Amino acid sequence: MVITNEEGLITFINTQTQNIFGYNKKELIGKNLEILIPKRFVGNHYKHIANFHSDPKLRPMGEGLNLWGLRKDGSEFPVEISLSPLKSNGATHVIAAVRDISDKRKSEATQKELEDKLQLSKRMESLGLLAGGVAHDLNNILGPILAYPDLILTELPKNTPVKNDLMMIKDAATYASNLINDMLTLARRGKYSMASVSLNDIVNSFFNSAKVSELNKNNKDIEIIFDLADDLNNIKGSKTHLLEVVMNLVINAFEAIRKRKGTIMISTYNENVKPEALLYDDIEGGNYSVLTIADTGRGIKEEDLPHIFEPFYSKKTMGISGSGLGLSIVWGIVKDHGGYIDISAGKKKNTKFSLFFPATDSDEQPSRKDITNLEGNESILVVDDESKQRQVADRVLSSLGYDVKTLSTSAEAIEYLKKPK
Ligand SMILES: Nc1ncnc2c1ncn2[C@@H]1O[C@H](COP(=O)(O)OP(=O)(O)O)[C@@H](O)[C@H]1O
Ligand SMILES: [Mg+2]
Repeated sequence: MVITNEEGLITFINTQTQNIFGYNKKELIGKNLEILIPKRFVGNHYKHIANFHSDPKLRPMGEGLNLWGLRKDGSEFPVEISLSPLKSNGATHVIAAVRDISDKRKSEATQKELEDKLQLSKRMESLGLLAGGVAHDLNNILGPILAYPDLILTELPKNTPVKNDLMMIKDAATYASNLINDMLTLARRGKYSMASVSLNDIVNSFFNSAKVSELNKNNKDIEIIFDLADDLNNIKGSKTHLLEVVMNLVINAFEAIRKRKGTIMISTYNENVKPEALLYDDIEGGNYSVLTIADTGRGIKEEDLPHIFEPFYSKKTMGISGSGLGLSIVWGIVKDHGGYIDISAGKKKNTKFSLFFPATDSDEQPSRKDITNLEGNESILVVDDESKQRQVADRVLSSLGYDVKTLSTSAEAIEYLKKPK
């Protein structure tokens, strides 16, 4: 509490308040109250005091006002002040109760930060769902466009002049199909078969793939450095999906350096993490297997960071990448693995994505093997309400040697199955 007289000089200050400001009593009594207010607010202060004297009554000053106190050491802190009049000997003194609200402001700021993060991940989730929903419909439309060029070709003589035309249709449809597949990955969030896997194996199998040979061939000035921990803990995950994560991040790294000299660094390590706030969400404490992919490319601007994981957010022109789906897929897959993402990015150069996956010590094996030979001679019953889908499934499965029967409703299917064959 501080009491000032009509000239604004301090006539009393209690110990608590003098401590807040870092003075002792002698230094303050008789001084103008200005001494406790940052210079740029002194003008406002006089306005407040004049207002107060024109209608002296108890009033809070903190609410909605941006009031600051000035400590002896020159530092500032946010305050709330309530003023009340004190009449003595015909003069009106002012009693000001001053409250240091630094802690309150801090917890408000943390609260806001938490809410922002929640908003951010909600937005990514819902945009992903939306993209996935559209993809289902597009996929149905695309089915015949993708399948028929090959089927038509089998009906035509080998050197048919329309082969190129048909392949143009097929290439365009393949491009669209890749895009739609990415969107479907977003829609099918969480429906994977999980087994115990090592991130090192994922990295190795990606770097032995044809995709990497192609990237290396077209980017001779980009060097890749590996630093994989020998003792890396396994994680519970889906190999195909994790491969997709690595692929999207590495392609982005290549594209960030593109046409210049640069380095991509891939590392894995074990880390015991304390609970802490990361850029996008707060990580739980525990043992993690960490994968980092860093590049010396053009970096990510701070204003782009909140958006890069949104579906369709891209700063690139359409090309191999440029759909803006890569990082949304990364986000979805990492989240479905119970993982976390952190980024350190500079304005000019260097971006590092760190992915944290909960470590596991179980040794679960994959529940099913990948099928490579698709041919067979068994009977297959196809049930789909879309006639185009039925036709495509029939054509494709028959051409693989199966005995195919198509029906449009589940009721028909049950009837059909009940009949003795
Ligand atoms: N390693 C990186 N360095 C610089 N910018 C990046 C990097 N990775 C992602 N970005 C930025 O994030 C955007 C979104 O990435 P992504 O979802 O993979 O979509 P796309 O690669 O199709 O543009 C990119 O367009 C790019 O601006
Ligand atoms: Mg990309």
